Amino acid sequence: MAIKIEPTGKALGGLITGIDLSENVSSEDQEVIFSWWIKHMVLVFRNQTLQFEDLLRLRHIFGPAGKTANQLLGLGRKTYYQNEVPDDITIISNITDADGHPKGSLGSGEAFWHTDSSFTEEPISASLLHAVEVSDQGGQTSFLNMYMAYETLPEELRKVVDGAYSNHSKTHSSDGTPRQSYGEITDVSKAPGIRHPLVRLHPVTRKKCLFLGRRLNSFIFDYTVKESEELLDKIWSHSCDPKFIWEHEWAVGDLLVWDNRCTMHHRKPFPAHEKRLMHKSMTAGETVIPG
Ligand SMILES: [Fe+2]
Repeated sequence: MAIKIEPTGKALGGLITGIDLSENVSSEDQEVIFSWWIKHMVLVFRNQTLQFEDLLRLRHIFGPAGKTANQLLGLGRKTYYQNEVPDDITIISNITDADGHPKGSLGSGEAFWHTDSSFTEEPISASLLHAVEVSDQGGQTSFLNMYMAYETLPEELRKVVDGAYSNHSKTHSSDGTPRQSYGEITDVSKAPGIRHPLVRLHPVTRKKCLFLGRRLNSFIFDYTVKESEELLDKIWSHSCDPKFIWEHEWAVGDLLVWDNRCTMHHRKPFPAHEKRLMHKSMTAGETVIPG
């Protein structure tokens, strides 16, 4: 059965069929998958039975091995991970053990729009997320096409973002939980983070896209905090238009692979009494090229 892709018909995303990723993937298929990933930004593979080692193997279709957010922050391995979890795997789950200790991160709440690990000098490029257990309700993940968000910016906002830099705060995880040791942020212009261009050039397509990271504690340099807040509100309001978005409804066995350089993603909350378990691997990134 030949590998095929069916675009979602929305702003981004494609469903791939005709391949079992637990088997060795031929170099020809790897090239095809990579080119579809660059074009469609998010790929969906259904009904995949994958072990940790498969997720670590498959990421090499998309790039060199990358580090988890905790590793990138210098926080090492999550202390609550069980021994069988490899260092380069992230567990995303609301499941707890018999003593109430979490087995993974992010709980059951909303994960706000963000780009993975943008709070580092070289944000990861590909994220691979495999659904082991999914909730009956909620938990959908949406993706946003940041090429379109940039290309459709009104002129007055285009003038703001072109050549501008913003701070990508590292103080909170994507569900708004404060990370240890950063304390309360009372002035966003001083939030610990990394300076990145607001417009980046995709290293493969050489096309420009908006690079927002996440809204919380973001700050555009060379403006006052008030001006920066007002401009960011306008830029985010423009970007989060449904016409740039596609939402994925998860099923057990789904593997999604997205390109963090030209997308953002968002997770809807789900009922806390339901169980959701996802395994994630990632590729390394590169220094962000200003657009
Ligand atoms: Fe994420």
